[in-house]
Amino acid sequence: MASRFQAPKGTFDILAGGTRTRERIEHVARGLFDRAGYARIETPIFEDTELFERGVGGSTDIVRKEMFTFEDLGGRSVTLRPEGTAPIARAYLDHGMHKLPQPVKLWYMGPYFRHERPQAGRFRQFNQIGAEALGSESPLVDAELIMLLDELLRELEVPGVALRLGSLGSPDAQASYREELKAYLREHEDELAKDVRGRIDENPLRAFDSKDEGTRAVMAKAPTMLERLDGEDAEHFAAVRRLLDQAGIAYELDGTLVRGLDYYTRTVFSFECDRLGAQSEIGGGGRYDRLMEELDGPPVPAAGWAAGVERILLALGDEHEIQPHDVFVAAEDGQRERALALVTELRHAGLRAELDLADRVLKGQMRQADRLGAAHAVILDTDGRAQLRDMRSGEQREIDLAQVVEELAGR
Ligand code: HAM
Repeated sequence: MASRFQAPKGTFDILAGGTRTRERIEHVARGLFDRAGYARIETPIFEDTELFERGVGGSTDIVRKEMFTFEDLGGRSVTLRPEGTAPIARAYLDHGMHKLPQPVKLWYMGPYFRHERPQAGRFRQFNQIGAEALGSESPLVDAELIMLLDELLRELEVPGVALRLGSLGSPDAQASYREELKAYLREHEDELAKDVRGRIDENPLRAFDSKDEGTRAVMAKAPTMLERLDGEDAEHFAAVRRLLDQAGIAYELDGTLVRGLDYYTRTVFSFECDRLGAQSEIGGGGRYDRLMEELDGPPVPAAGWAAGVERILLALGDEHEIQPHDVFVAAEDGQRERALALVTELRHAGLRAELDLADRVLKGQMRQADRLGAAHAVILDTDGRAQLRDMRSGEQREIDLAQVVEELAGR
């Protein structure tokens, strides 16, 4: 029954059996955030295009070539959200959240859209789970956030995870470092990839992300912001590191960690997973102390992260575990109405119970009970008697129908 239509490129259907691990991720995250005092927030799926142009930054790959942007019927340019931080900063300003006790701690989970070339772990519609803490510049915020993502991945038992940590300094320090980096890149211009050369002025930091051999060789010797950190930036970063050390969280310092969004200042981090191949980042984030000003708000220091739900699933091996049923009620002809009454009673008693809904003969019903992984089957005979069958051992005995629910619920 192949259809003429297929899910759009880079998207996927989540089929029955594919939802359980997703639900578990959400459940674990909810518990974790709840205990840490983070409240759930959901922003619209689309926003003003300018929010992302300004928030994420005009020189990023996301804004330059990955946004699903279109004009709505009123002639406004809107964009399917490629990420969640700029919308949450917008919501913070919109709702005057600066009047609440600071920092305002929020978490979210939902779909995001990027027009990227699809490959393993990279989709055009994907889901993120994320956290943002807005309104404090304390290094405790950075540490708490990193510890939460660490805890989430631990509780979900994601294997092969490692943390990389860096700092980009404050906007002022970053500005003078950028000049230094630009000068260095210009000195080595003929060794750089074309796209890196074209972005020296606009976004020199992105040269650290290049996959090009020549560029990588140049960047291996480039000055890093981490080496230039001083004053309060250095103190802030030292405090974050002390707190992580104290919490027993291992990390690798990485001066080349820049991440693909323009709003980062000071702390940046990335959780990588060795089971993921080329798209190895399972989640990451950092501090973004100047984003609110980019959106015409007052200065509000903030930090956060997001993790890719599909990447977590891939790392977990995406096992589509089926939850076995407790009881299958099979019925001979004339007994089907009683079967429906019995599964209803069993369900009220908290059991996962099913019956045949497709007019199968008794043999077919038993096969269906097997497929569903039912631990027991109750067989309603034509003469009104009932048999209880243990589907594992195959043992079968007659049972008083009045006792079936009590007997099975007690197990
Ligand atoms: P990001 O690094 O662009 O950060 O995305 C976060 C995570 O989303 C990535 O680590 C990855 O797991 C997942 N992800 C990104 N793109 C795709 C894709 N095309 N397919 C599948 N998964 C993907 C942000 O979005 C920031 N808003 C994070 C943040 C929050 N920073 C501060 N607060």
